[in-house]
Amino acid sequence: MHKIIVAIDGYSSCGKSTTAKGLAKHMGYSYIDSGAMYRATSLYFHDNHVSFTNEKEIEKALNNIEIEFRISKDGKSETYLNGLNVENEIRKLYIANMVSEVSAIAAVRHAMVEQQRKLGRKKGVVMDGRDIGTVVFPEAEMKVFMTADKYVRAHRRQIELTEKGDLLDFEDILKNLEKRDLIDTTRSESPLRRAEDATLIDTTHMTLDEQVEMLSLMADETISRTLRKS
Ligand code: DC
Repeated sequence: MHKIIVAIDGYSSCGKSTTAKGLAKHMGYSYIDSGAMYRATSLYFHDNHVSFTNEKEIEKALNNIEIEFRISKDGKSETYLNGLNVENEIRKLYIANMVSEVSAIAAVRHAMVEQQRKLGRKKGVVMDGRDIGTVVFPEAEMKVFMTADKYVRAHRRQIELTEKGDLLDFEDILKNLEKRDLIDTTRSESPLRRAEDATLIDTTHMTLDEQVEMLSLMADETISRTLRKS
């Protein structure tokens, strides 16, 4: 069976991860949430009071961090930090508020990119993030870049947080999103940008089902095309 790598990048709350999960299911591939790795690292830094400016402390912390994805009983991929299930904790706002800063640290990015490349070594993966098509897998056979109107994104985020019991002000969510966009797109280490060969998808007016359907069609075509070439 011919396997490819699918790289899905873009802004937060565009439906990247839900679409990536749906696509992985359609293809029988594993789904890797690279953002969860930066979130788990942020949680470790938070709990262990790691200074963001002390290189030695950062290096030591990175050597003590082991991130894994395990499949839950109901088939969901969950994030584990040093053997502990942190899936719920890493989705909280205090982590969202620090993750852009942590993910802008060069040493953090190098460590994560190395782990992500290992996870994709055998292909057959759908990975979502900010630099998957540009830095982690520039040779990925299929690349997508997702965007959407920021008010729609903030609204989606609010629904997601409310479902988890986090009742937050729309304005606060919007501010967090804008701050993260700014840091993600302007950082010197692998800023968020569309790879030249990535297909741009604006999800403002799309449902999640439509997104999964569109990407599934693209993936099927990509596999046929790469098979014809090989
Ligand atoms: O996709 P997410 O919202 O869970 O990502 C959390 C943060 O991690 C986001 O602010 C940007 C950062 N990130 C990154 O810098 N590179 C990635 N490949 C994935 C996420």
